[in-house]
Amino acid sequence: MATRVIPVDPFDLVIFGGTGDLAMRKIIPGLYRRFVAEQMPKDARIIGAARGELDDDGYRDFAREAIEKYVHAKNHDKDKIRDFLKCLSYFRIDALGEDGWKDLARIVRKDVVQAFYFSVGPRLFGALAKRLHKYKIAGPNARIVLEKPFGHDLESAKVLNAELAEYFDETQIYRIDHYLGKETVQNLMAVRFANILFEPLWNSQYIDHIQITVSETVGVGGRGGYYDKSGAMRDMVQNHLMQLLCLIAMEPPAHFDPDSVRDEKLKVIRALDPVPVDDIVRGQYRAEGDDPSYVEDAENPDSRTESYLAMKVHIANWRWNGTPFYLRTGKRLRARKSEIAVVFKEPPHSIFEPQEGRRCNELIIHLQPNEGMDLRVTIKEPGPGGMRLMDVLLDMSFAEALGEDAEDITDAYERLIMDVIRGNQTLFMRGDEVEAAWRWVDPIIQGWIDRGDKPKPYDAGSSGPEDALMLMHREGRRWREITE
Ligand code: BG6
Repeated sequence: MATRVIPVDPFDLVIFGGTGDLAMRKIIPGLYRRFVAEQMPKDARIIGAARGELDDDGYRDFAREAIEKYVHAKNHDKDKIRDFLKCLSYFRIDALGEDGWKDLARIVRKDVVQAFYFSVGPRLFGALAKRLHKYKIAGPNARIVLEKPFGHDLESAKVLNAELAEYFDETQIYRIDHYLGKETVQNLMAVRFANILFEPLWNSQYIDHIQITVSETVGVGGRGGYYDKSGAMRDMVQNHLMQLLCLIAMEPPAHFDPDSVRDEKLKVIRALDPVPVDDIVRGQYRAEGDDPSYVEDAENPDSRTESYLAMKVHIANWRWNGTPFYLRTGKRLRARKSEIAVVFKEPPHSIFEPQEGRRCNELIIHLQPNEGMDLRVTIKEPGPGGMRLMDVLLDMSFAEALGEDAEDITDAYERLIMDVIRGNQTLFMRGDEVEAAWRWVDPIIQGWIDRGDKPKPYDAGSSGPEDALMLMHREGRRWREITE
C-alpha cells in the first residue's frame, strides 16, 4: 500500500529556538523526512533563528547531526541530505532586542507561505509576535506555531491569547498539542465517524466506562526544574489527555473542518463536572536502585508536585450521564504505553448458564507503541462439553495491516508542520479550548494547594500508587494492566 503524498506550496519557515532540543529531536528530522517523501518542495527554506553565534554551515552541521541521530538509518541518503541542507540557513536574533529584525524582514519572502515556529518558552511568545508585526515581517497570511505549555493557568493563558491577538488573527495561530498529530489519535475520529458499527453504541446506555492511560517509563531527571512547577496535571492532563478525552467523547461534527471539530471538543471540556477530592489520586515515584526518586530528580526535597495522576471524570451531558471516564498518567511506571479502553456493559440478559467473570466487550485503541486496535468479544470455547464461553481478541495491529509502510507512519511533528503550511488548523488547539481546559483544571490544583495535599509515594516500575487501584475497585471495576 503506497502512501499518498501531496506536495505543499513553497514556504519559508523560521524556527525561533532553532538550535534547541525540539528542533534537534523533532522539527529538523520531521522536515527532512517530508523532504525525502517529496512533500516539502525543493525551494522551501528553513531559517533557524536563535541567539547563539553560528553561521549557515554551522546550522547545517546541527541539522545533519539531528538527522543522523533521530531519523531511521534507512533514510540516510547522502544526496538527499545534501539537497535538504541547502534549504537551511541560520539567522542570529534576540527575541527581546531590536537588532537584526529589519534584516530578517528582508530575508523572509513575501510571495510564499510564511510560518514562524516559536520553539521557545512562552515568556517570549508576546515579544516575538510583536516584532514580527512591528518590522512587517509577517504578512496577512503568515502563521505562527506555538509549543506548549500554553500558559500555567487560566489567567496566564488569557494574557498570552490577548497578547497574540494584538498582532495575529486566530486563524493564523497554531497551538501545538503533539498528541493530536499522532496517527492513531486521528484514527479515533476515523473509527468513530467513518464506521456505522460503533456510533449507535457510543453512549452511557451501552458503555460502562472508558479508561485513558498514558504511562511512561522515563522519570523527570534533566527537566526537573520545569516539571516540578507543572506536575502531571499541567504537563499531561490539561493538554494531551484532555484532547484524547475530547476526541473520544465529542458529538459527531457536521464537517471535518477546523472549527466544526474544535467546536465539538470545546463543548466536551465545558461539560466536565468539577472533580471531587476522593476521585483523584496523585503520586510521586520512589528511588529504585541507582535511579533517583522524584524529589531527587526535581531537586526539591519538599516537593508536592505529582509525577502520577489518576482521576475519575464525569461529562455532564445526555450522551455520557452515568459513564465515568478514568484518566491516568505517570512517569517511571512499568511500561511505556498509551491506550484508550472503551469498556461496554454486559448484555442485559444472559441465556447461558452463569459463568465465571464478567463478559463485556472492550474496544482497546493502542496509541503507542504498536499502534492498533483490539476488540474483545465473547465466543463459545471450542470443543464438546457444553456451552462454555470465552473471550477472544480481534486484533488489528496497524504494523501488520500496513506491512512495510507501517515504518513510514509519519511522526506527529512532521504531520503537524505540513498542516501549518497547508493552513489546516483542525489538529491544533483553539484559544477558547485552551482557556476552557485551564478553567476546569485550576480549581483542582488550587484545592491541592489549599488543603496541603501530598502525593502518595509509589514504586518505580509499578503501575502507580495503591490508592489508584482503589479508585476503580471500589466501584467493581479494574484498570487494565500496564504491560508492554
Ligand atoms: C510532553 C510532556 O508534552 O509529552 C512530557 O511534556 C512527556 O513530559 C511527553 O514525556 C510524552 O510524549 P510522547 O509523544 O512521548 O507520548
